[in-house]
Amino acid sequence: MKKRSALFVVIVHVLLLHAVYAQTHSFKDVPKRIILNLTASPESSMAVTWRTSEEFKASEVQYAVSTQWTDFKKSVTKVNVTTEKFAINDHQFVYHYSGVLNGLKPGTTYVYRVGHDSVWSEWNQFKTAGKDDAPFKFVYFGDPQNDIKEHVSRVFREAYKLAPDACFWLTAGDLAAYPTDDLWGELFDAAGFIYRVTPSVMVPGNHDRSVVMVDGKETRLKTTDPIWKAHFTLPENGIAGLEETSYYVDYQGVRFLMLNTNDKLQEQAEWMEKLLSKNPNKWTIVALHYPFYNTGSDHDTKAVRIALLPIIDKYNVDLVLQGHDHTYARTFKLRDGRVVPVDGKGTVYVVSVSGPKAYALNTKYKDLMAKIGDKISSFQVISVEANKLSFTTYTAAGAVYDSFELRK
Ligand SMILES: [Fe+2]
Repeated sequence: MKKRSALFVVIVHVLLLHAVYAQTHSFKDVPKRIILNLTASPESSMAVTWRTSEEFKASEVQYAVSTQWTDFKKSVTKVNVTTEKFAINDHQFVYHYSGVLNGLKPGTTYVYRVGHDSVWSEWNQFKTAGKDDAPFKFVYFGDPQNDIKEHVSRVFREAYKLAPDACFWLTAGDLAAYPTDDLWGELFDAAGFIYRVTPSVMVPGNHDRSVVMVDGKETRLKTTDPIWKAHFTLPENGIAGLEETSYYVDYQGVRFLMLNTNDKLQEQAEWMEKLLSKNPNKWTIVALHYPFYNTGSDHDTKAVRIALLPIIDKYNVDLVLQGHDHTYARTFKLRDGRVVPVDGKGTVYVVSVSGPKAYALNTKYKDLMAKIGDKISSFQVISVEANKLSFTTYTAAGAVYDSFELRK
């Protein structure tokens, strides 16, 4: 009898301890939706964002220069984070954290983890950009948008298989059909660990805007939904009011202008003019959602063409990466709406779609197109060297669909 009551006391004790531990450590609330974003200084800093269900005031990022063994843990630097309480529906909140790792060494591999108290993510690795011009590659995706878990997962994963050494991923808007927590959850699940090890930059599309009901009708505002800033920590070096949605990044000899084509087009045109008139980089790439030469359905994104195309032409932007039309389209080198010689001054424009939604082809600009097609989920691997830019489009099945080179 004595033995049985002693055993009972032990069991109760263990259960109590377990309950207390669970309460104080919330061990199931591990950091989720962890993502790296490039900053405006990719050679010396990196941004990381994640979230938990409860608020943890002790949340931080820890990082160190990577080592071959686990001894990097002896020289860890801690970064305090900004916390945002975010409503995912009318009665439920989550907590998003963002931290920027500054003062990093160029061209160096770092390990990092995020978390709170004793609850941590795994250690992940990334590499900073070099401080000088040097060859690199990145991956560009058109709209994921629809059936993300079901269909975009394989596209992301194939891209990682074929270009695991991409320095970053660039997405040209319409990340999800609606800015809802469930659909954004699909996006992060589709990318899996890749968002934790390959930094991202992205611009918003029309589907990334806030949705409100006006007179019982679903209406999209011009503003990017708050879900964007909760999940990402992107540069704020663009014009006022479009922080983290319109910005630029110089990466090893390429100036990337990332535009928000939902709003303030004229202001962005003036901002582009300033940036391109004093551009020390050899190459210039523009990413935006609405295409200049439409190839999808009855789309005609005229306002973007009127506001921005003269600047693209004036400063001979090399490449424009776009979304929205849910087709594949790659122009010849163009200037002022006309095909120019391959070795002349001009711009190549590409539309692609990573998701499964397809529009019927609009052939209005077919004479400007070097390659055009529909029902092709794809991703693009772009390699930049001093005098050559190599562009390859792969289908979701991993086959080469299109390729070209630009030389200068
Ligand atoms: Fe769109």
